[in-house]
Amino acid sequence: MSKLFTPVAAGALSLGHRVVMAPLTRMRSGPGDRPNALMRDYYAQRASRGGLIISEATPISRQGYGYAGAPGIYDDAQVLGWRAITDAVHERGGQIVMQLWHVGRQSHPDIQPNGEAPVAPSAIAAEGYGYAAYGPVPFTMPRALERAEIPAIIAEFGAGAARARAAGFDGVEIHGANGYLPDQFLQDGTNKRTDDYGGPIQNRARFLLEVTQAAIVAFGTDRVGVRLSPSGTYGSMSDSDPQATFGYVAAKLDELGIAYLHVVEPRIKGTELIAASEPIAVRHLRALFHGTIIAAGGFDRAGAEAVLESGDADAVAFGRAFIANPDLPERLRLGLPLTSYDRATFYGGDARGYTDYPFHAHAA
Ligand SMILES: Cc1cc2nc3c(=O)[nH]c(=O)nc-3n(C[C@H](O)[C@H](O)[C@H](O)COP(=O)(O)O)c2cc1C
Repeated sequence: MSKLFTPVAAGALSLGHRVVMAPLTRMRSGPGDRPNALMRDYYAQRASRGGLIISEATPISRQGYGYAGAPGIYDDAQVLGWRAITDAVHERGGQIVMQLWHVGRQSHPDIQPNGEAPVAPSAIAAEGYGYAAYGPVPFTMPRALERAEIPAIIAEFGAGAARARAAGFDGVEIHGANGYLPDQFLQDGTNKRTDDYGGPIQNRARFLLEVTQAAIVAFGTDRVGVRLSPSGTYGSMSDSDPQATFGYVAAKLDELGIAYLHVVEPRIKGTELIAASEPIAVRHLRALFHGTIIAAGGFDRAGAEAVLESGDADAVAFGRAFIANPDLPERLRLGLPLTSYDRATFYGGDARGYTDYPFHAHAA
C-alpha cells in the first residue's frame, strides 16, 4: 500500500497526499522584486488537490538578498503580486506556504542596498556565487552584525510573516537551511560571537528560535514550519558537533509545537547529489521532534515510500523533479515516466524551462 497518497496533517494544514513541492529559487520576478503573471502560471501548474507547495525562498528585506530576481516580501506591492499566486493555488485545491529568507553572508555589495557589505554573525567569508542583476558574483567578506542590529532583522522576519498572511499564504517556513543567515548563527564554523547570540548552542540557536517566534506571533504556531540542513556543507558551512547542534534545535522546535520540521538530507549539497546514502538526518531528528517531519534531498518514489514506511518522515519534498514535472504527484501516483530537467534554465530567464514543461497525457 502506498503511503505517499494518504492524508496527513502538518499543524493547521491538511495534506491530501504527501508529495510536497520543495522551495525552489527560480529568479523570474518582475520589477520591484514583485511576483508576476509568469510566476502565477508556474505555481498554478504545480498546484494539486490537497498538495502542499513551499514557495521559492523569499527575502524579508533588501539586505536579505543574494540572488537578483528573487521575489520579495518586504513591501505592499509584493503582497498584491503574491495574492494572485495564492488565489491560483487555492482555486486548484492546493495549499502554499512562503519560505522566508535572509541570505546573510551569501551575497555581494552589488546586490546589497547602497553597495554595502553583506552581514553575518561573524566576519568570515563563504565560497561560492550569488547573482547580481548583471550576472554571477563571488561572495564577499561580510561585516559582523552589531548586537543592537539583530532585533530589527528578527522583526523583519515577523513583518514578512504578517505580509505572507495578508497575501493569502497558508503558512510560512523559516529558511534555516543551506548556510543562510539563521544557519550561520546556528553552526559554530560561522558563528564566533562572544555575546548572547554566540558561544554555546543555547546562544547560537537564539536567532533561529526568535525568528520562529516572530513568525508565530504573526501567523500562529500551527502555521509555521522550519527548514534545517543538518551537516549540510553548502555555503562553506561546518559545525564541530552537528548532532548536538541540530538535536538541540529540533528539541526546542518540538517544545514550541510548530506545524512541521523540514529536513534536508546531507547527501545533497545545494542542488547536487554528493553521496548515495540512506536518509540519516530525519532518523536522528525523529527521536527528538514528534510533530510532522518533511524529508527532502535526493528522493525518488521508492525512496519516498521507504522513508514514510520507516516512520522517520511524514511527507517528502521533491525539488528538481517538480521543476520538470508540473503534474509530479499524479505521475508518481500513476507510475508514469518523469521528464528530465534542464539545469541551464534553473535560475533566471523566461517561460522556457519554467512553464513549458509538459503535463503527461494520462495525468488527470
Ligand atoms: C533550482 C533550485 C533552486 C533551489 N532553491 C531553494 C530555495 O529557494 N530554498 C531552499 O530551501 N532550497 C532550495 N533548493 C533546494 C531544494 O529545495 C531541494 O532541497 C534540493 O533540490 C534537493 O531535493 P531534490 O533532490 O528533490 O531536487 C533549490 C534547488 C534547486 C535545484
